[in-house]
Amino acid sequence: MKNISIAIDGPAAAGKSTVAKKVADILGFTYIDTGAMYRAFTYAVIKAGLDPQNEEESNSLIPSVTIELREDGKVFCCDEDVTRVIREPSVSSNVSYIASYKQIRLAMVDMQRKMAESRSVVMDGRDIGTYVLPKAEVKIFQIASVETRAERRYKENQEKGIPTSLEDVIEDVKKRDRIDSGRAFAPLCKADDAVELDTSHLNIEESVEAVLKIVAEKTGLEIPCH
Ligand code: DC
Repeated sequence: MKNISIAIDGPAAAGKSTVAKKVADILGFTYIDTGAMYRAFTYAVIKAGLDPQNEEESNSLIPSVTIELREDGKVFCCDEDVTRVIREPSVSSNVSYIASYKQIRLAMVDMQRKMAESRSVVMDGRDIGTYVLPKAEVKIFQIASVETRAERRYKENQEKGIPTSLEDVIEDVKKRDRIDSGRAFAPLCKADDAVELDTSHLNIEESVEAVLKIVAEKTGLEIPCH
């Protein structure tokens, strides 16, 4: 069977990763969380005592940082398990700066394209349908209102024991929208051939079913029982 790429883009906390992971499981595809890669790089910059808001300082780590997304969902950065720490507010509030630096993006995109070369993938991010995999068979632009997104991220943080207030999460979501959409290189935007999916009033299962329906329509794939 020919490899199939499913690109799921959209703003911060729109539920992309939860939906993408489930869709990948049902289809037997590999899930690739590209946001985790930018987060891991941000963590490496902070850990090295460098300033994530300084492009030159951040770029200096490109040759030495290694990022690995393992099949079990764990994220490793320079052989350290960073799965949990990359969700901390210190990383969340700085990751948009790192993701706006062209040289860092080029390095990440290179890795992402290689990962999608030899297998079927569900890849989520901001620029997958527009830049990383412009020939993806399925492109979805998943959105939800700022309030819905902030509430989801807030609950997620609570479940993970990460201390934040709802007000802080709302501000963080708005700030990231601004930076992600406004950056010069590969900004967040809907690809012309992407299907927009508003999940403001859908729960996870309904969102997953909506994505699977689009996949079936676009590819003719028979969706396995689940
Ligand atoms: O999806 P997330 O919140 O984990 O993403 C973290 C940040 O990385 C987010 O601010 C936008 C950026 N990002 C990006 O610019 N391009 C991607 N393909 C994925 C994420």
